[in-house]
Order: sequence, then structure tokens, then C-alpha cells
Amino acid sequence: MDCPMTLAPRRGSESVVEMTQLLLPGDANALGAAFGGSVMGWIDICCAVAAQRHARQNVVTASMDDLHFHAPIKIGFQVILRARVLAAFKSSMEVGVTVHAENPLSGERQLTTSALLTFVALDRDGKKLPVPALVCETALEQRAADEATIRRAQRLAQAKDQTGSTWFRLLEK
Ligand SMILES: CC(C)(COP(=O)(O)OP(=O)(O)OC[C@H]1O[C@@H](n2cnc3c(N)ncnc32)[C@H](O)[C@@H]1OP(=O)(O)O)[C@@H](O)C(=O)NCCC(=O)NCCS
Repeated sequence: MDCPMTLAPRRGSESVVEMTQLLLPGDANALGAAFGGSVMGWIDICCAVAAQRHARQNVVTASMDDLHFHAPIKIGFQVILRARVLAAFKSSMEVGVTVHAENPLSGERQLTTSALLTFVALDRDGKKLPVPALVCETALEQRAADEATIRRAQRLAQAKDQTGSTWFRLLEK
């Protein structure tokens, strides 16, 4: 895919993605609720599209964290994913996502899942590419970006330390 390079700053609202799925039995567990892996796959796609809309480049998932399954999603319910870029750094972007289950008969919605993902923009050869700066238009957007910057430092430190952690050593022995 050819990538026209533009580093003009972009508003967070330009990256917003809303994606809807219908929970069918093939994506359910033995209890008749969503299989977590399917929801994680949809999250990955929804957030990747948000990151692509910001960067207008190909992106790969670098990390997925703060993933919480707050409530189950029943078969037959609509699954509404909403993602947007929260902060842009040099080649990476933090993207936030929420997932709601919607009762198709009543229209009632419930938060079921939320997560934070980081994507890195890469060229065809896998080389990192710079991404546009994020324009924060409101105090809330600025706060979200500031908090993402703090999380980024913690995330990178954790990723660096992971191979030395006890659980990692236990699995790798
Ligand atoms: C993600 C990836 C490109 C990072 O490459 P790297 O050589 O570690 O690159 P760097 O250390 O120079 O970091 C590049 C950027 O990624 C970010 N990054 C690296 N590791 C990260 C992590 N674990 N979590 C979040 N961001 C991370 C860095 O902060 C940096 O961002 P910046 O340019 O905005 O400062 C590389 O590890 C990769 O290709 N991973 C596989 C991606 C993939 O296949 N995803 C699909 C999931 S199966």
C-alpha cells in the first residue's frame, strides 16, 4: 500500500472509529457469552483503524494493556466498539477503546470491555515512521493526552523489565 506522507497535526476527533458486530454463536464461549479472544480481535482492528486514520500509514500493535472485561456479552446482542487516538508520540500512538453490548430489542447499552493499545507506524520495510502530532481541542483531551504520556513511560519501563520478572522466568525455565 502506498503511503502519502503528511505530518500535519490532526485532531483526535478525526481518528474516532465506531464499529458494530453481532455476537453470533461462533464467537461465544460455553456459557453463551462472548469469547474474550474474539472481542480482543475486534478491539485490535477497531483501534488499528483509529491509529491508521491518525497516521495515514500502516501500523502494527505494539501493546495491549489495561484490558478489562467488565460484563459478559450475550449471543444475539450487538457489540459496539468505539476507539480514538489519545496521544501521539514519535512513531507510536496510544489508542483507547470501549465496548458496549446493546440489547437489540430494547436498545439498552452496557459497558462490557475497555482497553488501551499502542500502535507503531511502519513503512513497507518495517522501518518506523514519524506520526502527526495530536491537536487537543479541549481540556479533557489535553488531560487524556497528558495521562497517556505518563502511562507510556510506565509501559516502556514494564516491557523492559518483563524478562527479569518472576512470572516470566517461571514460564521460560
Ligand atoms: C512494536 C515494534 C515495531 C517496536 O519496535 P522496536 O524496535 O522495539 O522499536 P523502538 O524501541 O525503537 O520503539 C518504537 C516505538 O514503539 C514504542 N514501543 C516499543 N515497544 C513498546 C511496547 N511494548 N509498548 C508500547 N510501545 C512500545 C516505543 O515507545 C517507540 O515509540 P516512539 O517512536 O513514539 O517513541 C516491534 O517490537 C514489532 O514489530 N513488534 C511486533 C508487532 C506486531 O507484529 N504486532 C502484531 C501483533 S501479533
